[in-house]
Amino acid sequence: MAIIHGGQLSKVAKQFGIPEQEWLDLSTGIAPFSYAISAIPEKIWQDLPTISPSLITAAQQYYQAKFCWPVAGSQQLIEKLPSLWNDKNSAIKSGKIQHAYLPKVGYKEHQRAWSLAGYQIHFYQDTLPDNVEKNSVVVVINPNNPLTDTFSIQQLTQLKAHCQQQKALLIIDEAFADIFPSEFSFVPHLTNYNENNNDSANDNDNEYDDLIVLRSFGKFFGLAGIRIGFACTTETWRDIIKESIGPWSINGPALFIAEQALQDRQWQIEQSLRLEKYSKKLQELIKSHLPNVSIKANALFITVFLDNAASVYEKLCQQGVYVRLTDEQNALRFGVGNDQQLQHLTDVLNKL
Ligand SMILES: Cc1ncc(COP(=O)(O)O)c(C=O)c1O
Repeated sequence: MAIIHGGQLSKVAKQFGIPEQEWLDLSTGIAPFSYAISAIPEKIWQDLPTISPSLITAAQQYYQAKFCWPVAGSQQLIEKLPSLWNDKNSAIKSGKIQHAYLPKVGYKEHQRAWSLAGYQIHFYQDTLPDNVEKNSVVVVINPNNPLTDTFSIQQLTQLKAHCQQQKALLIIDEAFADIFPSEFSFVPHLTNYNENNNDSANDNDNEYDDLIVLRSFGKFFGLAGIRIGFACTTETWRDIIKESIGPWSINGPALFIAEQALQDRQWQIEQSLRLEKYSKKLQELIKSHLPNVSIKANALFITVFLDNAASVYEKLCQQGVYVRLTDEQNALRFGVGNDQQLQHLTDVLNKL
């Protein structure tokens, strides 16, 4: 299954015969404003990386997680989860067909991972599944990429109860969730975040172990290249993930930068406001040039639905503007741009 992602500019540049440096690349949902990296001590480059308790504390506080562990981008774990789940779940050894429930439109790496592992894929979209097979897997992408649609805590709580009943693994991919207020995240609902509040209801809750929320660091902090993300999960899964990724798969500079960024509340507040502002500017720009299209937007990307999306994509590429044509070929996803990028886009749209 060949998956097309945004961000493969060199390929597209070659295809359209325009030098890479002349392109406006809005093909990803990675923030165009990056966390400013402070000087990285030489020792961090020299030493083997250590996942320090202070990083874990910073991540626990930022994600409101009782248990979490870093990974080399959430993609690392998306690829590993089928084999980890097969190992954990003894029912899978029976040789029966296994089932995975995925959004029809959404980040396709989940589908690839579970298909490769031989799972039968079932799609849903607007309504969460409520009748899943025993020992199956349910993936929710919240907010959806590229549709921006979201599910509420109430809807996810119902799904969690159903998954618990069916002994299913529930994976919630919150790669873009940092743009929302903290109440949006399902992480505090995985386990009892507040350790002092261990009453019997929570003990019951803890019997259900198979819940993982994936958090991407690169998108909101604008540093996708350093390859770090976090799994927020139960104690059991934290240990499985820790064991599986080994001691050194996340590089020292990434650990160092993430620890600072996750604690920098002031920067995070400013970044949220900045992204909101630039998303609005982008929406206005698109609406003024394409008045009759429907747009779904969040603070990191906007998805524009067009009857002729593929031909508009082609025209933009001919002008050196790279956006993401959705797999369904019915929409274009524009990553939020900075002032210079918005000006470039305005100039091109004026010409078209
Ligand atoms: C919904 C979603 N989940 C996960 C990822 C993986 O991101 P990363 O590995 O950088 O955390 C992406 C990347 O685009 C994504 O769109």
